[in-house]
Amino acid sequence: MITFQGVSKVFRSKEHITKAVDQVTLTVNKGDIYGVIGFSGAGKSTLLRLVNLLETPTEGKVIINSQEISSLSQKELRQLRRRIGMIFQNFNLFNSRTVYGNIAYPLKLAGASKQEVKARVTEMLQFVGLEDKADHYPEQLSGGQKQRVGIARALATSPDILICDEATSALDPETTGEILKLLKKVNEELNITIMLITHEMHVIRSICDRVAVMENGTVIEEGSVFELFAHPKTQTTKNFINVVQNDKLSPKLLALLRANYPGQLVRLIFKGGVTGEPVLSQFAKLFNIDFNIIYGSINELQGQLFGSLIVEIKGDEQEIQRALESLKKKVEVREVINHES
Ligand SMILES: Nc1ncnc2c1ncn2[C@@H]1O[C@H](COP(=O)(O)OP(=O)(O)O)[C@@H](O)[C@H]1O
Ligand SMILES: [Mg+2]
Repeated sequence: MITFQGVSKVFRSKEHITKAVDQVTLTVNKGDIYGVIGFSGAGKSTLLRLVNLLETPTEGKVIINSQEISSLSQKELRQLRRRIGMIFQNFNLFNSRTVYGNIAYPLKLAGASKQEVKARVTEMLQFVGLEDKADHYPEQLSGGQKQRVGIARALATSPDILICDEATSALDPETTGEILKLLKKVNEELNITIMLITHEMHVIRSICDRVAVMENGTVIEEGSVFELFAHPKTQTTKNFINVVQNDKLSPKLLALLRANYPGQLVRLIFKGGVTGEPVLSQFAKLFNIDFNIIYGSINELQGQLFGSLIVEIKGDEQEIQRALESLKKKVEVREVINHES
């Protein structure tokens, strides 16, 4: 478990004072994949670097498995770092060493014997699917393969925490998918707690259990991934979500919709079990109104279904209002106009 308690990090130079991390309090539960999302400069990398004391907090406490890490001795700190693996956007491999040499490096540093090194490197190569690349050099590998080496190296010393700084940001979408799958395997098969940072919501949606949204050094929203998607509170979060749901209507499309559908346009958000209910036909029977379905999409989130429908409702104004009030008890109702623009 990783806990941040009122943690701040201030960088001071002659000209500038930057509060990169500002009073952050959050908990990463053991066994979770915890995501931190935010735009560039939000303070994500600094927050992550506080976990393995690559940065020391200016204020507050970072507690890992009930140990406050800033009070550790040099020896304890070395031990702690061995239990925290880290991977990077640009892989940070040693170009002069082979794949084998890269993965062996932290093991040698930890004083493992030649035999132990060989056994562990072989095991890790198998785990990341690069058995045939042991003698290759990084420059002979694709981006995805390089990140696999990065992961194997980070896991060589059997850490219980893996921290990932934009680990898929330099990769194409397909390779990103493969690396995210591998991270999920790391989490599930090796029981490793993962804290990752990203500026891409699809990364959060694919593999994270919980998420924090960061802006200007502070956490502006935090919760389970499902809750965040279901009830986003801030505009920043809504913007991140819109990108992945591909649901935001362009002004042109919205204008065309209005011109073509004179009735009331609403977006209905269905979550979890409600997606299996014939809500619309029930309401058409209960109230004297008609639904005209214009657009629909469905997504999977944390094993739950999450649907979105844009419908035109036709009928008497008062009857529509009565129906909407009642609908709101079942699904989330958003006025298309206000929400989208
Ligand atoms: N070592 C440093 N010295 C001075 N300022 C820094 C340093 N590291 C980060 N910053 C500043 O802290 C802020 C947050 O940076 P960072 O944590 O890298 O954000 P992110 O990873 O979200 O892009 C930025 O304004 C950045 O310029
Ligand atoms: Mg960063």
